[in-house]
Amino acid sequence: MGNLVLEQVTKLYGNHAACSNISLEIGEGEFFTLLGPSGCGKTTILRMIAGFIKPDSGSIQLGGRNITQLEPEKRNVGMVFQNYALFPFMTVQENVEYGLKVQKKSQGEIKEKSRRYLAMVGLEGFAKRAVSDLSGGEQQRVALARSLAIEPAVLLLDEPLSNLDARLRDSMRTELKKLQKDLGITTVFVTHDQTEALSMSDKVAVFKEGNCRQCSTPEDIYNAPADSFVAAFVGDTNLFPVHFDENCCLLSNGVRLSSIQDESTRYISIRPQSITLSNNNETAEYSLAGTIKEKHFHGAATGWTVDVQGLDFFVSETNLRSKKSNLSPGSKVFLSFSHDDLHPLKK
Ligand SMILES: Nc1ncnc2c1ncn2[C@@H]1O[C@H](COP(=O)(O)OP(=O)(O)OP(=O)(O)O)[C@@H](O)[C@H]1O
Ligand SMILES: [Mg+2]
Repeated sequence: MGNLVLEQVTKLYGNHAACSNISLEIGEGEFFTLLGPSGCGKTTILRMIAGFIKPDSGSIQLGGRNITQLEPEKRNVGMVFQNYALFPFMTVQENVEYGLKVQKKSQGEIKEKSRRYLAMVGLEGFAKRAVSDLSGGEQQRVALARSLAIEPAVLLLDEPLSNLDARLRDSMRTELKKLQKDLGITTVFVTHDQTEALSMSDKVAVFKEGNCRQCSTPEDIYNAPADSFVAAFVGDTNLFPVHFDENCCLLSNGVRLSSIQDESTRYISIRPQSITLSNNNETAEYSLAGTIKEKHFHGAATGWTVDVQGLDFFVSETNLRSKKSNLSPGSKVFLSFSHDDLHPLKK
């Protein structure tokens, strides 16, 4: 049973709350991600689930059992630490066998499992190597094999891919996700990388300063952010404060957003790819005249910064072979979008 429930969990350091009143439900077999900037409390939450630190209040249940005060070795939780925390004077195999020895498994089982999990992470030939002689990516795999070998009910992964180069990180994302799915193991994954969170997770919880701002599917987090922090942190967006004057919603440059009726709206988010650039005044719900300030070529797409009456809009367009852009800095353009592309936010 691997479903994990955190109820109103708070951890204080002095009078600073590393996390406050966190309630999360992580289903059995789910890939669940804690996403947020540095210092928002991600590692603190993992350490409480693993039992290395105790919450000041609230409870943690695993498979229906209250484990809040249970010692770490009695929890059946495997953790890959942010810095891997391998035993430097042991070989790869000894590292993987360590947890199995603590569990007092038979010699036969220890050998069989260390072999199986090393093979699973692609390190068959590495058993006798000293971990100090491995690359960062290889060490990360050893740490993963070590935590999987004890066949935990929950796997906790603290930014396990952050030290890898971009290409290796991409392939490890795919491998890790496949391994997790094949084993069906409940996984809590920590990252500050929103692309990683969106592409790997069944559910994502977005944190800021010890508080959970939104917990939902990747699609929901991206398409229906709960507030301006989530909108800006997850994916690129144009985030503009708005005010109301005589019942009309206005951007700070005076542009009227007449389709926004709810006067509790404080911000508007528009994704860069929702805006179309053209030379002509389109018959869209909104069509704003502007001047291109900057062009950013990204290969698959081009980003444009466009000045609209003193406010910078960021627009992103896919680079199709058939579509050659004649736009450049200084060009006069129109930005068009519809009401559905505007995401009103209350805070
Ligand atoms: N042992 C400690 N004593 C005092 N403060 C701590 C301790 N551990 C963490 N903190 C504080 O609690 C907050 C949350 O820390 P935490 O390590 O959980 O952040 P994080 O989200 O994992 O950050 P990062 O992405 O940088 O790893 C930070 O402000 C940190 O300084
Ligand atoms: Mg951390």
